[in-house]
Amino acid sequence: MNEPPADEMEESLERALASTAADGESDLENRLRPARLSEFIGQPRVREQLDLVLQGAMRRGRPPDHVLLSGPPGLGKTSLAMIIGHELGAAVRITSGPALERAGDLAAMLSNLVEGDVLFIDEIHRMARPAEEMLYLAMEDFRVDVVVGKGPGATSIPLDVAPFTLVGATTRAGSLTGPLRDRFGFTGHMEFYEPSDLELVLRRSAQILEVDLRPDGGTEIAGRSRGTPRIANRLLRRVRDYAEVRADGAVTREVARAALAVYDVDELGLDRLDRAVLGALVRSFGGGPVGVSTLAVAVGEEPGTVEEVCEPYLVRAGMLARTPRGRVATAAAWRHLGQEAPPTAFDAPDDERGQGTLFG
Ligand SMILES: Nc1ncnc2c1ncn2[C@@H]1O[C@H](COP(=O)(O)OP(=O)(O)O)[C@@H](O)[C@H]1O
Ligand SMILES: [Mg+2]
Repeated sequence: MNEPPADEMEESLERALASTAADGESDLENRLRPARLSEFIGQPRVREQLDLVLQGAMRRGRPPDHVLLSGPPGLGKTSLAMIIGHELGAAVRITSGPALERAGDLAAMLSNLVEGDVLFIDEIHRMARPAEEMLYLAMEDFRVDVVVGKGPGATSIPLDVAPFTLVGATTRAGSLTGPLRDRFGFTGHMEFYEPSDLELVLRRSAQILEVDLRPDGGTEIAGRSRGTPRIANRLLRRVRDYAEVRADGAVTREVARAALAVYDVDELGLDRLDRAVLGALVRSFGGGPVGVSTLAVAVGEEPGTVEEVCEPYLVRAGMLARTPRGRVATAAAWRHLGQEAPPTAFDAPDDERGQGTLFG
C-alpha cells in the first residue's frame, strides 16, 4: 500500500474535524458514534461513574462538574463528550488544545457560552500556557480576566462566564499541569476494550453500514483491533471492501483473515508501525533498553506518536516494557517477530501489563 498509514490519516482527520466542527463532522465517524450512554459499549467503570455524575447534576438542576477523559486514541473520548451533551440536553461547543494558542482564543469561546453548555476541549494537554491559566479561573469561578493593552498601561477586565461544563480529552493525562488536573471533578480513565466488547461494536457498526458480518468474521476482526473501537471500525470497512471485491460480500472468518493479510495487520492486530517499533528495538538495539526518542528516530516517527499511539498497546500486549533506563522488548516480542529471545530477555511481569494474559 502506498497510502500513508491509516492510523495517521484518521488521526489527522480527527484533528481537522475537531477544529472545523462547525462545518459538521465526518459523516462516517458520526454515523458510527453512539449517541447515548446506554448505546456506549464497554468501559463499564467509566460508564457507571459518568452516569452517576450526570444524574446527580440533573437532579440538582445544575451543570455537572468538569470532566476529564484520558486514554489512548480511538477509545471513545470524543464520543463520550458528545454523549455528555446529549444526556444533559446541552449544546456542545468543540475546540482543541492546539487551536487555543492565545488566551484571547479561549476568551472568545468562553464568552459565547450559554448557561449549561458543554465546552469540549480535545487534546487539552496541548493548550498554550496563557490559555490554560485563563481556563483555571473560568473552571473555578466562571469568570475570566481579559487583559487589554500591553506593558504598564495594561488593564484587566473581569468578565462573567455562564456556568458551563468543561469536558477535556487527553491522550497524556501525565502531561497536564497539576492545577488543571485538580480542577476536574471527575476523571474517566479509558481502558483498551475486551475482544468481546469489540465484537459488539463491530456488530453495531455492521448493522449501520449494512455489512453482512458473520459472527466468526466479527470474532476475527475483534481479535485484531488492538483493543480499539476506531480500529475495529476501520478494519471492518477494509474487510468489507475485500468481501465485496473478491468474495460474495459476506464477511466470514476466512474473508477477514485474507483481507487483513492484505492490509498488513497481524494476528495480534499489530500494524506496520507497531512492528517497526518492535523490529527496531530487537534488531537495532538488541532488545533495549533504549530511549523513546532514539526509537522514534529509528522508525521515522514523532516520539509523541510512538509514545501515545504505539506503546500503550504494546505494553498492554506484553511486548514492550517501559523501564527507568528506556524501552525494553520482552521475550514475547522476540518470539512474535520470529526470533529466538536471548536468555537475558525480559518477560513482562503480570502487573506490567495490567492484567496477566493478553486480555486478562
Ligand atoms: N464504546 C463505544 N461503542 C461503540 N463505538 C465506539 C465506542 N467507542 C468508540 N467507538 C467508535 O470509535 C470511533 C472513535 O471514537 P472516538 O470517540 O472518536 O475516540 P477518541 O476520541 O478517544 O479518539 C467512533 O467513531 C465510534 O464509532
Ligand atoms: Mg477524539
